[in-house]
Amino acid sequence: MRNGVLAIDRKGDLVLINDEAYRIFGLPADLDYLGQGYASVFRQHPDIVRVLGGAFELAALPNRAELRLKPTDKVIGYTLSLIRDDHDQPIGAALFFKDLTHVEQLEERERLRDRLAAVGEMAAAVAHEIKNPLAGIEVMAGLLRRQVPDKKDSLALINDIMNEAKMANSIVQEILDFVRPVRLQLDRASIGEALHSAVSMADGKMQRGDIFVDVRVPQYLPTIQGDRHQLSQVFVNLLINAYEAMHGRGAVTLSAKLVEVGEDGALLPDGHAPVPTVIVEVTDTGPGVSADVADKIFNPFFTTKPQGSGLGLAIVRKIVDAHEGRIDVRSTPDRGTCFRVTLPVEHTDAWMR
Ligand SMILES: Nc1ncnc2c1ncn2[C@@H]1O[C@H](COP(=O)(O)OP(=O)(O)OP(=O)(O)O)[C@@H](O)[C@H]1O
Ligand SMILES: [Mg+2]
Repeated sequence: MRNGVLAIDRKGDLVLINDEAYRIFGLPADLDYLGQGYASVFRQHPDIVRVLGGAFELAALPNRAELRLKPTDKVIGYTLSLIRDDHDQPIGAALFFKDLTHVEQLEERERLRDRLAAVGEMAAAVAHEIKNPLAGIEVMAGLLRRQVPDKKDSLALINDIMNEAKMANSIVQEILDFVRPVRLQLDRASIGEALHSAVSMADGKMQRGDIFVDVRVPQYLPTIQGDRHQLSQVFVNLLINAYEAMHGRGAVTLSAKLVEVGEDGALLPDGHAPVPTVIVEVTDTGPGVSADVADKIFNPFFTTKPQGSGLGLAIVRKIVDAHEGRIDVRSTPDRGTCFRVTLPVEHTDAWMR
């Protein structure tokens, strides 16, 4: 049974609790709580104590209400009902509930997608308009350069103009890449290869100085159904962010492992068997991401860098989404940041067949 259920008697002692309730509330499976007062059983969950406390007092009991359990951040939907005896006297109360965390995650993704679609359309139009005048600037600066072959100062200025125009052009290109829908060339992709090639690609893009990079991939990691180039792109962007955050000193670890998602329950839709999944973690020893910034970093154009476009992580999320994966970030200020990418070994349409 995928729903949680528990019941208390009039004294407030627990008379029924199922396995799903143990899981959702994070109660140790080997403990027996029957006969104990609900206030002590759920002391970690004051909201639940409050809900159960209202059972015999409230005129209208909550029906299909939702609440977030603070210790685990799980969202549950619940209904509280009275249990009555033959004379219609309440003798207890039952709480039925369901873990909605997965549903919430899906809704959140949906909202993000809508927002990206609106931003994307505008960005594409602007980028397109800017591309032509930029090309014009570059061409004209080139012509001007030929007219002043022996004026050193002027040549230096013209070169600066051309370089700036090139940089603006590459930002525009990045925006266009970002707004274009991701089309995956699905194949068997080796995560180990994607990580190693990401390290060399990142080295081609910037100097990492004394940063130590460690790639740890177990020998028998299965290949996943994915687009190897776009997966490398994901890890390149994460690596470059890590390098930029560490300013030439520190360490980055890229690690991969195979798990059966469902162990923590949160990712698993109701009634589905556990899905073999690869988890890749990119961990750095940089300054970390502060809490107020953490929920914005995946937004397009959010950047804290003077030269950043703020599209790196937005592109990463888009590619991970296209692989039906997930990405999240954990960070401890001054200790470092860990980006965790969760990728199913097979696409849904493949494993549902
Ligand atoms: N490993 C990290 N450590 C600390 N902060 C990070 C890390 N990765 C990302 N960030 C923060 O998230 C922001 C957004 O990252 P994102 O890659 O989307 O854009 P950017 O790096 O600023 O610009 P771009 O990637 O387009 O050059 C960064 O500006 C930075 O503040
Ligand atoms: Mg970046």
